[in-house]
Amino acid sequence: MVCRVVVLVSGTGTLLQALIDTRASQDLGAELVAVGSDRSGCGGLTRAERAGIPTFVHPLERGADRAEWDAGLVDRVAAFAPDLVVCAGYMKLFGEAFLERYAGRIVNSHPALLPSFPGPHGVRDALAHGVKMTGASIILVDAGVDTGVIVDQVAVPVADDDTEDTLHERIKISEQKLLTDTVRRMAGGNWHVDGRRFRWDGSDDDGE
Ligand code: GRF
Repeated sequence: MVCRVVVLVSGTGTLLQALIDTRASQDLGAELVAVGSDRSGCGGLTRAERAGIPTFVHPLERGADRAEWDAGLVDRVAAFAPDLVVCAGYMKLFGEAFLERYAGRIVNSHPALLPSFPGPHGVRDALAHGVKMTGASIILVDAGVDTGVIVDQVAVPVADDDTEDTLHERIKISEQKLLTDTVRRMAGGNWHVDGRRFRWDGSDDDGE
């Protein structure tokens, strides 16, 4: 059974594009069954449409009931029966219903080395702190802000003349490979979580 993946996006969708390109080269081992967004017209949706992947938009309107919005998101996503939900630059927090329904199966990519610099400005915050090394992290989403179990990470050095934009662009190159590699491996299903430790089964990386 091929692993079914729903990807959620809010932005330009370069991470999604990496997944699409990897799929095109028959290398992802997973089916991208739908792409959803909270923002109509975002670049990620256009990329999905171009690739022939079904899309949906589920915006959080100002003043809307958050729990209702969250339950609606469960319905939109569940319609595609995913095994994994991948947040690729998706900028909304999930509510209880969504977290319960997809517990342990929601993957998020974050542009910093967690647990340092969580939240929406990970690149800016790392730069402002003066770190020499930052990177990207893939985590399993839990109820906190970027607090979930760490699946994998990649380090990216900070250059003296980096701005938030130049650093983020460089991180995104490493982040794209990290995300596609991680989704491919997770789609294979040979992994488990042991407390806060993510383990690949039957490989040297399981630390046994
Ligand atoms: C990624 O760095 C992601 O971690 C962050 O926003 C970026 C998404 O870029 N939250 P894109 O929309 O995939 O181009």
